[in-house]
Amino acid sequence: MQQKREHFGSRFAVIAAMVGSAVGLGNIWRFPYILGEYGGAAFILVYIAASLILALPIFYAESIIGRRSRSDTFGAMRKLAPGTPWRWAGLVTIVSPMLVLSYYSVVGGWSVEYLFKSLSFSFTDVPAEEIPGFFGHFISSPWQPILTHTAFMAAVVFIVLGGVSKGIEKFSKPAMPALFILIVAIAVYSLTLPGAWAGVTYLVKPDFSRLTADACAAALGQAFFSMSLGVGAILTYSSYVKREENLMVSGVGTAVCDLLFALIAAFAVIPSVFAAGLQPSGGPSLVFETLPYIFHRMGEGLPLVSTLVSAVFFITILAAALSSAISMLEVGVAFLSDERGFKRRNATLLLGFLCWAVGVLCSLSFGPLSGFHILGNSIFDFLDHLCSDWLMPLGGLIFTLFVGWKMSRADVRDEFTNGGTVNVKLFNAVYFLMRFVAPVGILVVFVTNLVM
Ligand code: PFF
Repeated sequence: MQQKREHFGSRFAVIAAMVGSAVGLGNIWRFPYILGEYGGAAFILVYIAASLILALPIFYAESIIGRRSRSDTFGAMRKLAPGTPWRWAGLVTIVSPMLVLSYYSVVGGWSVEYLFKSLSFSFTDVPAEEIPGFFGHFISSPWQPILTHTAFMAAVVFIVLGGVSKGIEKFSKPAMPALFILIVAIAVYSLTLPGAWAGVTYLVKPDFSRLTADACAAALGQAFFSMSLGVGAILTYSSYVKREENLMVSGVGTAVCDLLFALIAAFAVIPSVFAAGLQPSGGPSLVFETLPYIFHRMGEGLPLVSTLVSAVFFITILAAALSSAISMLEVGVAFLSDERGFKRRNATLLLGFLCWAVGVLCSLSFGPLSGFHILGNSIFDFLDHLCSDWLMPLGGLIFTLFVGWKMSRADVRDEFTNGGTVNVKLFNAVYFLMRFVAPVGILVVFVTNLVM
């Protein structure tokens, strides 16, 4: 029942789609506040190491499984290890991206609101000092964030309905370079603000006394989140990658872009936080409280300039968030249409609706449901921790164990080296990382999470 699969049209399209999935709210919204919670420069060092030594090999494991099988996550395991329980492991990695999408869309909705606030001059009509307070007011309102979450989810569904090359590919290509230019410009500007250098020191001078086991586990979780790993997104996208593409190049390209975006976003946000007199440990609200404040300062006396910069910023962050969100939904849609015979349209609508419903609960957890806790966390925080600290590393573990221990070395080599024509020398090192280093690293993190 397998129909002919769609393909990404070119190497640029492959990298743009993978970078599109990787670069998103995780870089611009999540990375700055997580590093603010865990103490700055030392966290960044661990994060870079985790991205290259643990996350990148898992990226390759997913790419190898996806392209070899040309299937969704569940079907991939079924095809490559027929008659074994591996396919059930594949199923785990279909549930987690749906959970991530549920709360991701809520944050996407916050960006929608901030875009409207920018365009309606709400930020320029008040003194800069009042801007950080807008956020708490907005997210605790019961219906407004649900409305914007709905708008964001509707956009995701609309794009995924368009399919791989018409929907996903067309969308990712122009959005990424624009976002990059803008975030660099904001970083440069933020460094000129009085008080900003304290933020730079915070980012470059490591304080290893704050580097707890907990912080290391969070760094790995962030690396997974940021590179979209362990949830089958990279696997599913790789199933649309042509046989002659070089997997090594798409992996390194994605990892480097993702790291760069995260680091530059940190240099845009953290110095601004210090300049605004706020705390870097301010949590999920950090970006939404500080950047509009900075935009206001940028255009002091020139409200049009503030409005323009702010609007362009929120448009591009929305584009980045959408290109990540569509890759999450695509995992479930590929599963339902490849394995369960759903029409693409029905699968998209059904899953979009389910994720939206869970997202509503997440959104309400900042307002009317704020008193409701699961294991001491709000619904939103619980889902975020569950996904990034547990489900994504678990998915990553499943994929590396599968490639390192279940698939034959010859098959893995064949896929990674395009039949022995590229990356042959590097193969041994990558294989070693996939087989030993990544699984052990993830297990250590699990134990740490359990005992902390
Ligand atoms: N990597 C995305 C980001 O940094 O915003 C988040 C993400 C995308 C997570 C796709 C999971 C996923 F499947």
